[in-house]
Formats: sequence, structure tokens, C-alpha cells
Amino acid sequence: MHDIIRQLEVKRAAACLGGGQKRIDSQHAKGKLTARERIDLLLDADSFEEWDMFKEHRCTDFGMAEQSVPGDGVVTGYGTINGRLIFVFSQDFTVFGGSLSEAHAEKICKVMDHAIKVGAPVIGLNDSGGARIQEGVASLGGYADVFQRNVMASGVIPQISLIMGPCAGGAVYSPSMTDFIFMVKDSSYMFVTGPEVVRTVTHEDVTAEELGGAVTHTGKSGVADLAFENDVEALMMVRRFVGFLPASNRHKPPVVPSQDPAERLDFSLDTLVPDNPNKPYDIKELIVKTVDDGDFFELQPDYAKNIVIGFGRMDGSPVGIVANQPLVLAGCLDIKSAIKAARFVRYCDAFNIPVITFVDVPGFMPGTAQEYGGIIKHGAKLLYAYAECTVPKITVITRKAYGGAYDVMSSKHLRGDVNFAWPSAEIAVMGPKGAVEIIFREEKGNPEKLAAREAEYKAKFANPFVAGARGYIDDVIMPNETRKRICRSLAMLRDKKQENPWRKHGNIPL
Ligand code: HXC
Repeated sequence: MHDIIRQLEVKRAAACLGGGQKRIDSQHAKGKLTARERIDLLLDADSFEEWDMFKEHRCTDFGMAEQSVPGDGVVTGYGTINGRLIFVFSQDFTVFGGSLSEAHAEKICKVMDHAIKVGAPVIGLNDSGGARIQEGVASLGGYADVFQRNVMASGVIPQISLIMGPCAGGAVYSPSMTDFIFMVKDSSYMFVTGPEVVRTVTHEDVTAEELGGAVTHTGKSGVADLAFENDVEALMMVRRFVGFLPASNRHKPPVVPSQDPAERLDFSLDTLVPDNPNKPYDIKELIVKTVDDGDFFELQPDYAKNIVIGFGRMDGSPVGIVANQPLVLAGCLDIKSAIKAARFVRYCDAFNIPVITFVDVPGFMPGTAQEYGGIIKHGAKLLYAYAECTVPKITVITRKAYGGAYDVMSSKHLRGDVNFAWPSAEIAVMGPKGAVEIIFREEKGNPEKLAAREAEYKAKFANPFVAGARGYIDDVIMPNETRKRICRSLAMLRDKKQENPWRKHGNIPL
């Protein structure tokens, strides 16, 4: 018995040492924490229950029989964040570069299977050189087993990926199928093929940072949602972030009681929209002044900035917010912004999180770049997402709601539950200038007449009353009462039930 206990201690110590002190020092020298240090920071103190600490790989090729580390390069198990159950896996770069073997994959699959069974989020801390090269197809099979679970878990439990080191090859495809990807600046990379392969195949000379660093993926590709300065900040922010998410699609999102009164008025909002309709303003001011305690967790702030997405709380309950941003491209919808918002709306819908939409949109972005890029198909993603969505949907039109973009942005016609407009709202097929240039084309040579027509069009449509007269707008509200009216609407909709017709799945224009 004593002997077994001693063996247990030896094995535990070996597992905790991973690939050895030298590699741990090297990990620290790169500004990175180890797999276990990361779990310690992520989870509540003393809450981690580790599984499969003694699991080892079964490979005997290329001298692998002599090289085995208990745990095989990934630490797995469950614990809590602010008392809520979370499953976690954390890849250990000190063990074969965190590469994924058959056994390593089995460990990840085990926590995912349990998370799906009991209904709790999975957080993956990724730091991996991809498929374990020595294992060949066994590691590829392991990846596919993880991918299959990512897909089965999608829309059932929240899946969050932190990229905390190099993630190459197969190591990027599992995160890409999770709901949110957070990266660490200067120490994490994601690419399907690294800079050397790129150089050989396309003759492009590119650094790892340029090809797949945090700035690239949060600004250019839109693959990642957020980037943080270091491991500690990333882990702390994920702790905060999961507070907005339900444990699963069977649960309601967590309520965090707030001291911020639901009926609070904000008179500064009455002057947010400038008198000149062509002058921009920052929609984030409205968001921050509307949500509980000004606490808005924005996602993808550096990508497709013409639309703003993120989570906040209203009277304690989480909400997803989608808002056109007049500061960028006048708030136009384009390919990137439509895709960004569509995926977010679908996330909220899958996880019972009401969607609040702030609308100030002059339309879809015109031009060959957009048309050749497939704006028809990609813009339709957002339309589809809103139309399919059955969670409570509240819409506030602050200014422009023109053309197809009016329809798309959670309009009454797409089952918007409560649709408000500010007095500054203009709901029309297009802006007055463009409209009269088309319908009174024959008067083009007469600027005075055209100006009179424009004034007439403006008087008729540049207000919320035409839409209000048809019931497309439930009420015209003062900007200062936006929070109060939304909170009341959300309370009214708390037990909303709406179902779409049975189908295997829809066919969203991908
Ligand atoms: C086995 C690996 C490994 C791998 C790294 N190591 N990647 N061992 N399989 N995939 C080992 C190294 O041999 C080294 O061992 C240790 O991990 C650290 O690696 P270094 O290269 O010293 O670290 P660094 O310089 O930081 O570079 C990290 C790296 C690089 C960028 C990840 O190691 C790399 O390019 N690795 C290969 C990436 C790759 O091509 N993976 C396969 C992708 S294909 P020692 O003993 O020296 O410490 C794939 C297919 C799946 O994933 C497709 C599914 C759809």
C-alpha cells in the first residue's frame, strides 16, 4: 500500500513537471504560463478536479516508447468560475509542443462528452504544434474525434477557445468551430500552414505574427473575437465573460442583480443624435448608457467596426446587443459586418439570450467590391439570422433605417417583438436626396425644384410616424427613456414562447 502511494506521488510529480523544468523555464521566458498555472488562474481557487493525469500515449515509433509523460501534454477536468461549473482542457506546450496524440485527444473528448451530458461550458486553453507528427494518422483521427464533438456541442453548450501559443494545422480547426476565440498578443498564432510552407507554396515572405497573430485575426480575418496583453489578462477576462453565458441551451442565462435602477432615465441621450443627419455620433455611447452599470462586453471591436456586437445586462439579465455604428462607413451594412452580426444573433438565439438592436443604417454598401464579394449571399445571412431567431427581440431605431437594411435590422416584419423609434428616426426606402434624384429624374436640371421635392420627401418620410401609422413601430420614445422602455419590454417578454416549423435544419446562405 505504501508502495502504491509512493508511486502515486512520483507519478503526480512527473505529471506536474510536464516536459521538465527546462521547458517550463523556456515557456516562462516567452511570457507564457504553464498549462497548470493557467487553470489555477482561470478556475476558482481549489475547485479543479483533474482527470486522466496518468494517461499516456501508446506510440512506439520514432523512439516514442522511451519518451512518455503522464498526462500526455494536456491537463483536463472540471472546476468552477464564480461557483458555476466549467469543463476545461489546457494543452501543455512543454510536452511534445502540446501536440495532439490519440491519447491527448481522448482526454479532450472525455471532458467534452461530460460537458454535453451535464450541460456546462467547455473552455479550451490552446497551445499546440498540431497533430503529433510521430503518431501519423492516429493523431489525425484524434483531431476528427474532437471536431465531431465541437459540432455536436455547438448550440448546446458554450464553447470558448483561448489561443495561448502557436496553434498550427489541426490545432486551429477545433477552436474555429467553438463560439468565441480569444487570443494573447505577441505569443499566440493561428494558421492552417505556417510561414515556411507559405513561402514555399506562394512565395510570400510573411512572419508568424503577420500571418496569424492576434492583430491579424482580430482586425483582418475576423477569426478571433478579442486579443489580450498577456495570459493573466486573457484568463481574467474569460472569467468575466462566462458570467454572461448560460450553462447550456437548457438553462436561462445567469442573473446578476444590479443596483442600477431598471427605470433610470438618461437625459444626455436626448442630444446624442446630431441635428445634421449626415453627422456621425458614437453608438457605443448609447449602449454604455443603456446597459446595467455601463458594463458592455464588446466582441470583435477591431473588425467590421461599422457594426457593434457584445453582451451587457438589463435589470440583471444578460442581453446581446447589435448596433449599427454611424462613425464607421456611416453605419452601412457590408459583407463583413453582416457576417459578424449574423453569427452573434444566432449565438444569442441558441442560448436564450434576448437581442437588442440599435438601428442607424443608411443601407447596404454599394460597389463592385461588395457585389463581387457576394454581398447578396452574405448580407442575407443577417436577414436569415434575425428572421429565424425566436428569443425576445427589441429594436430601437435612433435615426436612419433605410431600404433593405431597415427590413434586416430586426424589423417588425422579421418578428421583432417590440420596435421603438426615437423622434429622430427616418424610416424610408432611401435617403431623401437619393430618392428624389431617382423619382424626379426629369427635374435634374432644376436644382430649386429638386430641393423642394427633397424637402417634401423629407417631411413625409424622415420621421417615425409613417411606420408608426402602420404599426411597424410600437411607440415613439424619448431617447432618455430608452433603458426604462427596454427593461419593461424584456420583463413582459420573459416567458416568450415561439417555435419555428420542424425541420432537420434550415439552409442559411453560407
Ligand atoms: C510532435 C512537436 C510538434 C508536433 C512541436 N513539437 N510540434 N512534436 N508533433 N506537431 C515539439 C518539438 O519537436 C519540440 O520538441 C517542442 O515540441 C517545441 O517545439 P519547438 O519547435 O522547439 O518550439 P517553437 O520554436 O516555439 O515552435 C513551435 C511550432 C513548431 C511553431 C509549433 O514546433 C512547429 O512548427 N511545429 C510543427 C507544426 C506542424 O506542422 N504541425 C502539424 C500540423 S498538421 P523538443 O523535444 O525539442 O522540446 C496537422 C494536421 C491535422 O495538424 C489536420 C486536421 C484537420
